Amino acid sequence: MLDLADFRNLFPITERCIYFNHAATGPLSLPARRAIEQCVDIYSSRGEFDIDDYFSKIQDARATVAHFINAKPEEIAFTHNTSEGIYIALRNLPFNENDMILVMDGVFPAVRYVVDHNLPHIKKKYVCFAGEDPIAVVKSNMDKWTKAVVVDYVQFLSGETIDLQRLSEFTSEVGLYLVVDGIQGIGAVSFDAADNNVDFLACGSAKWLFGPGGAGFLYVNRRNFGKLRCQHTGWLGAGWTGFEDITKNPPLHSDARKYEMGTRNVIGIQALSTNINILLQYGMPNVEARIMKLKSILRNYFESSGFRISTPDSGKQSGILTVRPRIGVEDLYHFLKETGVIVSMRNQNLRFSPHFYNSEEEVKQIIDAIKRYRNKG
Ligand SMILES: Cc1ncc(COP(=O)(O)O)c(C=O)c1O
Repeated sequence: MLDLADFRNLFPITERCIYFNHAATGPLSLPARRAIEQCVDIYSSRGEFDIDDYFSKIQDARATVAHFINAKPEEIAFTHNTSEGIYIALRNLPFNENDMILVMDGVFPAVRYVVDHNLPHIKKKYVCFAGEDPIAVVKSNMDKWTKAVVVDYVQFLSGETIDLQRLSEFTSEVGLYLVVDGIQGIGAVSFDAADNNVDFLACGSAKWLFGPGGAGFLYVNRRNFGKLRCQHTGWLGAGWTGFEDITKNPPLHSDARKYEMGTRNVIGIQALSTNINILLQYGMPNVEARIMKLKSILRNYFESSGFRISTPDSGKQSGILTVRPRIGVEDLYHFLKETGVIVSMRNQNLRFSPHFYNSEEEVKQIIDAIKRYRNKG
């Protein structure tokens, strides 16, 4: 049985700095590094995987991702990033002429670019969800042409979190598809596909799942399998069992797997499933509790020190805590960096995003560093 210190040791970054930047890029774990090295060894010394090994690696990884979010393996398509998952979802929805989608204003550009540039035939309406009841927002903006709602599970800057369970109850009742960018939530907070009942959830591995970039997954709720178009598919969307005979083209899968177009990023997928196994071993409720504890110590300090806090303190919580210092954001950011504290600076805010292996001692050191900075000037 591993304890928290053992888990912390799986993250070599802890020896170099205080890394509170998982909303930007997650640091690679040691086990994922080893999994990557094993793949690289195979590519380098043998050129290709033994085919049975290849298929069983993909199958195991798919089962791991599915288990992690309480879905079925056939509801998971591997992708390369979040954008690709959002693209697949929106390209395959059965839109008709004049259909409209509601999109959360303030989504990260990953969603915005896909929506604005890949759906020329669809009307889009950007609506503000910040600080609002999401059901009320959808209710007051939908009309008879509205087909889908697209949201970020966790807003990348403020960390505001949508209650997907509530929202999906409403969207499924009124017949709207709910498409979710999950990357800022998955890995930091528990997510259960059965409870949340969204139609699609796209997630890249690069942040709370400890990277590296270049792999991800799309969850497709199985109630949609028969309704979706097939506008993004390829040869690896079919059920191949070997590649010796390429004359016999197997049929496409009838589930999420049909959206995998071609040669997969096996290295990234191996790292993704290895990292997810770390989270499963520690337990997502424990991961979430640790993150909330670290965040609350920081939050208390910011509240008592007069910082403006951009992250709501009520409602569902994420791993993000963002503050907006009145002056000197850049100076403070660089001071922290020189002190070995890595956070993000975004739109004049400082964003702190701890993970479960970070420690109370690190939070204390961050607070001490900020105090030093303030006393300095
Ligand atoms: C909410 C959100 N979605 C998506 C992304 C990234 O998208 P992708 O995985 O397609 O690069 C980010 C950050 O980089 C993000 O904060």
